Amino acid sequence: MDVKYLNLNRPAKILITMPSESKRAIIDISLIGIEIFNDKCKHRGGPIHLCYKDEQNVDRCPWHDHKIRNRKKIDYICAVYISSTGILKMVNNQVFDVPWPVKILS
Ligand code: FES
Repeated sequence: MDVKYLNLNRPAKILITMPSESKRAIIDISLIGIEIFNDKCKHRGGPIHLCYKDEQNVDRCPWHDHKIRNRKKIDYICAVYISSTGILKMVNNQVFDVPWPVKILS
């Protein structure tokens, strides 16, 4: 298990990469809550954080344009956002000293 902290204002999107396990996750902090989901498209693993909206305002994968509907929740990262301090605490369940870069997308 490993723990990281970020100081940020919401709304925010955070990209977490776990190269050793070939996983990516997005933490989406909105005004109503926090969601953590898989960043890989169900089709062939395209980057959901780079999706675009089509003319019907539907999210589309940038690789093969499939619709991104229900985002898959994950359980290998958990996070808590404390709005009074702006602190995001993230906990990862992988081995302690394996790198897991965190990037603020917005
Ligand atoms: S990888 Fe997303 S549509 Fe193919």
